[in-house]
Amino acid sequence: MEEREISQAVIRRLPRYYRYLGELLENGVERISSNDLSKRMKVTASQIRQDLNNFGGFGQQGYGYNVKYLYTEIGKILGLEQHHNIIIIGAGNLGQALANYADFEKRGFILKGIFDVNPTLADVSIRGVPVRMMDELEQFVRENDIEIGVLTIPKTKAVEVANNLVNNGVRAIWNFAHIDLNLPENVIVENVHLSESLMRLSYNISRYHEEHKESK
Ligand code: NAI
Repeated sequence: MEEREISQAVIRRLPRYYRYLGELLENGVERISSNDLSKRMKVTASQIRQDLNNFGGFGQQGYGYNVKYLYTEIGKILGLEQHHNIIIIGAGNLGQALANYADFEKRGFILKGIFDVNPTLADVSIRGVPVRMMDELEQFVRENDIEIGVLTIPKTKAVEVANNLVNNGVRAIWNFAHIDLNLPENVIVENVHLSESLMRLSYNISRYHEEHKESK
């Protein structure tokens, strides 16, 4: 396939295509037209065609998309056919919730370790993965080919810990701490802020109420 720069907007939509196609596959659907996919996903058919054309257009006119092929190709584009070793730093509420979510493994994200500074957590294991103390971190990262560090620690500690991870070979950070990390350009950072999603929800609630007030 020709290497082309895919826009971040398309990349952001791919996981949703992947999820829908996965569900279709589970339900034994082999082919789907962009119109049918459009109805299910509530995205215009032309948007779907445009998005999927980025990858050389897997569809055939009048024949629809081969669900399995498309699912596999999108998975490859998202890098999901490879395994990614991950560790979670901060075994509090959020860190434990993430560690308990077994489905990440299905997507190839293998939880190798969980770290914290709180010695009362030293005896805790989550899905068989023990919580380790931070003094083991550097050696563990170097010896276990850790690619992704998940930060679920207070924001005051996040920068220091992120730098430490990167200095020991971690190449990507899934950052939940509410702070910008400013890491070297070759380190991939994905910030996740649930509160931003909640603010968008709040905005849409207000907008909905405004519109309905007007139409009364
Ligand atoms: P928590 O207080 O339950 O857990 C934090 C854990 O980090 C504790 O177990 C603590 O011992 C550990 N910790 C503190 N300093 C550390 C260090 N230097 N190294 C390793 N571990 C350390 O807090 P919670 O609710 O789990 O939140 C964790 C972080 O995630 C906070 O920064 C919070 O603001 C953020 N958060 C972000 C959300 C988002 O959507 N981005 C949603 C919820 C929380």
